[in-house]
Amino acid sequence: MESYTESFEKIVSEQLARLEKIKASPEYTDFAKLDKIVVGIINGDGIGPYIMAHAVKVLNTLLGEEISSGRVELRNIEGLTLENRVAKLKTLPDDVLAQIKQCNVLLKGPTTTPDKSAGLPNLESANVALRRELDLFANVRPVSIPEKGINWIFYRENTEGEYVLGSRGVDVNDEMSIDFKVITDAGTKRIAKAAFEYAKNNGNLNVSIITKANIMKKTDGKFKDICYEVAKGYPQIKTDDWYVDIAAANLVNPQMQKNFNVFVLPNLYGDIITDEAAQIQGGVGTAGSANIGGSYAMFEAVHGSAPRMIADGLTDYANPSSILKAASMLLRHIGFSEKAQRLESALAKARTAANVTGFADGDTAEKFMAVLLENL
Ligand code: IPM
Ligand code: MG
Repeated sequence: MESYTESFEKIVSEQLARLEKIKASPEYTDFAKLDKIVVGIINGDGIGPYIMAHAVKVLNTLLGEEISSGRVELRNIEGLTLENRVAKLKTLPDDVLAQIKQCNVLLKGPTTTPDKSAGLPNLESANVALRRELDLFANVRPVSIPEKGINWIFYRENTEGEYVLGSRGVDVNDEMSIDFKVITDAGTKRIAKAAFEYAKNNGNLNVSIITKANIMKKTDGKFKDICYEVAKGYPQIKTDDWYVDIAAANLVNPQMQKNFNVFVLPNLYGDIITDEAAQIQGGVGTAGSANIGGSYAMFEAVHGSAPRMIADGLTDYANPSSILKAASMLLRHIGFSEKAQRLESALAKARTAANVTGFADGDTAEKFMAVLLENL
């Protein structure tokens, strides 16, 4: 067996190679300029296929003309299921990844991460693997509550931090284990640039950098420094920084909520804080998520596959809002802003008319969808 010092050496050289790859990675693709856009449809596990069926219906309705003319293709990607991944003992079976790479953008339902506690092999999360394989470095998550003056957008770094080696920690011996967190200059620069560009293009919104640089001095320290470095290119934008603990508190502080606009944050804090923000908006079932890279983009719900809802027979009550919000972000990303706007207005009306809570005392997704489709 490999010693832990050998494992560590290997990890360091792999991470240095990853850094070089980031430096050589392509600029954004402008999908609006492509002759043909292939949208891969990945249903996912658990409640995934149920909520995705609603989203596909909406895309077919909104993109009817473009689909008929061949400008847009909705392509089903089979095989990214828990069963197939467990059978192949591979998070992203080769043939499935090859199909995915033939698409330009993806709409993806939540996928279940198998683990030991369920008696399954301990495979890596498909989300995390896809984000890495397709180099989807910016996880963009908007939260908006107009009546409270809340208009937030989170730029979560999506490929490094605690996640990049999350499945590759080292058991030093039976009594001690070590995990790793990796932050690079190039990896931070590109997420910071994406956040500041968004802030600039939307009327010079405030940018808040979130870290725990008082404790994680090397990695978060670097993240904070690089973000401030990038901020120098945007002198008109008000930039500040917060530690993640007080940021979490301020998000629920009515006196502070309105002051925040754009957040830029490393991967794990972004994961946690965006669930909190989604909850403030009305629950994780209401928030969409975009994973953007230079060559590909993937749009998904913020929440997981909700195996408990399946076990409790609650699939009819699964809220499709989050995946529909993701679908509207996809439409905007590929150049159909007006259709995205139509979907967002219909979503707002459906939310008012039907209260889908994920529980049997709430409304069903069917009731919600009837209002939405009527208003599309
Ligand atoms: C998210 C999810 C994922 C993450 C899980 C499913 C791996 O919580 O997209 O926020 O941790 O990033
Ligand atoms: Mg999360």
